[in-house]
Amino acid sequence: MTMHEAGEPQESHNKIPKGWLLVFIGGIIFLLGYIVSYTPAISGWSFYKEFDKEMASAAKTTHSVAVKQYSGDKEAIKEGKELFANTCAPCHNSDATGGIGPNLTLTTLKFGATWKDIYESIANGRPNGMPPFLQQIGSEKVSKTIAFLESLRKK
Ligand code: HEC
Repeated sequence: MTMHEAGEPQESHNKIPKGWLLVFIGGIIFLLGYIVSYTPAISGWSFYKEFDKEMASAAKTTHSVAVKQYSGDKEAIKEGKELFANTCAPCHNSDATGGIGPNLTLTTLKFGATWKDIYESIANGRPNGMPPFLQQIGSEKVSKTIAFLESLRKK
């Protein structure tokens, strides 16, 4: 009998408990699934697709959020006039009587002349050359620009 036979840990008898093994293998399977699902070449998943989806739903949300209307508010009309001169006048003329884009001082417009119609026209643009401005100027300024346009009609 040699010295170290008694009480010595015997590695060959040290089996990994089954439970741990399952967790370990499960982890590897999960990781593989994760990698596959987020690899565009395999699953078609793309960050840009997700981004587009989120942008689309964000655009929808903006619509349902109430935007303050500034009809008749002198300060807002003044700000709207400045914005119009800088941003819209190249196409609609500084008095909004039209140029490349149509006359906006009329009470009937092709896409409608209610506050909501005009908000849509400015925020999201129109097909034949009217660019969308919501991203660039934000809903507050769109609204102030509408107040300016409304003030032109009442003259
Ligand atoms: C690059 C030129 C351009 C700029 C800049 C531009 N517009 Fe327009 N806009 C147009 C054109 C062209 C149309 C007609 C679009 C159509 O018929 O589909 C239009 C249409 C509109 C309409 C709808 C008119 C209707 O007949 O229903 C509104 C309202 C309007 N623009 C407001 C604005 C405002 C406010 C700004 C500035 C924030 C602006 N536009 C900037 C070219 C422009």
